[in-house]
Amino acid sequence: KNKEMDNIVSLAKRRGFIFPSSEIYGGLSSAWDYGPLGVQLKNNLEQFWWREMTQLHDNIVGIDAAIMMHPRVWEASGHVENFSDLMVEDTVTNERFRFDLLPEECQQEMKSPKGNPLSEPRQFNLMFATHMGPVADAGSKVYLRPETAQGIYVNFKNVAQTSRVKVPFGIAQVGKAFRNEIVTKNFIFRTCEFEQLEMQYFVHPKEDEKWFEFWKEQRINYYDKLGIRRDKLRFHQHGPDELAHYAKDAFDIEYEFPFGWKELEGIHNRTDFDLSRHSEFSGKDLTYLDDQTSERYLPYIIETSAGLTRGVLMALCDAYEEQELEGGDSRTVLHLHPRIAPITVAVFPLVKKDGLAELARDLERELREDFSTFYDQSGAIGRRYRRQDEVGTPFCITVDYDTKEDNSVTLRYRDSMEQVRVPITELVGTIKQAVKE
Ligand code: GAP
Repeated sequence: KNKEMDNIVSLAKRRGFIFPSSEIYGGLSSAWDYGPLGVQLKNNLEQFWWREMTQLHDNIVGIDAAIMMHPRVWEASGHVENFSDLMVEDTVTNERFRFDLLPEECQQEMKSPKGNPLSEPRQFNLMFATHMGPVADAGSKVYLRPETAQGIYVNFKNVAQTSRVKVPFGIAQVGKAFRNEIVTKNFIFRTCEFEQLEMQYFVHPKEDEKWFEFWKEQRINYYDKLGIRRDKLRFHQHGPDELAHYAKDAFDIEYEFPFGWKELEGIHNRTDFDLSRHSEFSGKDLTYLDDQTSERYLPYIIETSAGLTRGVLMALCDAYEEQELEGGDSRTVLHLHPRIAPITVAVFPLVKKDGLAELARDLERELREDFSTFYDQSGAIGRRYRRQDEVGTPFCITVDYDTKEDNSVTLRYRDSMEQVRVPITELVGTIKQAVKE
């Protein structure tokens, strides 16, 4: 299993998905950079989520709030007081661990994974603090947001008053969040700087359980639509000792990574905790007036909160296969959903000579208008297919001598490796249809 993870990490590096941050300086632990294919995959996943959550729901709108917020936000949210973890240190190696993430036997015996005694647990706050302005004193202290959600709560009134949405309605946001995490293993799974895909759904307090169920179902279906293997996904309900300080009920959607079942997304019933705290701390009335019934109340919030960067890792793990082929051959293939694959269509000339390269180049330029494309004329055609399989390109097109005669090309499907002859005039339509399926 760990071998599989090593192979995924190595592929991600080798093919330009993900690099260690500041690598030429020896890297920065727990920080990663997205390369040409990685940023495309991440952007596509973000767009897939945005489309699902906003375009396909006429009562969900988007915002993009600042990463730096008024320091009082984090007092109101409870993060200053509660957003902390227990840290322990291996007394021999000085390695630090988050206590709750250590294996159970280590916690019970107060031993590090190396078997050395652990120090007394100490509380530490996960928020990154910095200073705004030239003087670093207590008055200039600000935090980098540890979740995007608060940017939505503080804009609740602005959005409700300007976008003609009525409860129930949602506000969606994608953006960076920062947490001073200690655990640095498992690649991009848990990092200090990461991205979240969050949607806060404002509902009548009497309807919270109904909408909670609705969003649980919507969110698990989303992963189905992305083509993620259903047997690798499960719900995990939070017990009383796991519930965050704001939550009445919470379910995680977990994915079985090569290193075990881990949280991918949280669905939380946050009650009116956030709006009532922000009302109290800001002194502003954040109640909602239902103009049909004239009822005034603080809406409850059902939150869906997914990791984007963690989603990238999930997509890579789910897509990765080392496949044995007939005749003793093998290939590495990423079965990424065509909507999120970094390259949608690769175009090859069978050979460079006799005008085939020019023909293929022209075709690739034409297809750029509709798809993310890649042109490759080097090496044997079979090797070119393999190179695209490895980065998850769902469609490859080969221009050959017959193309000159019949104006058609060979379209090769990544997963089945099936090859069909398609007239150039039908290519865009055929591929668009296949992407949708
Ligand atoms: N607003 C609620 C909230 O932030 P969370 O369960 O703390 O809830 C939501 O985080 C999601 O954000 C997680 O399910 C995970 O996908 C992602 N996430 C949280 N911490 C992360 C980290 N250090 N690195 C990468 N992703 C993280």
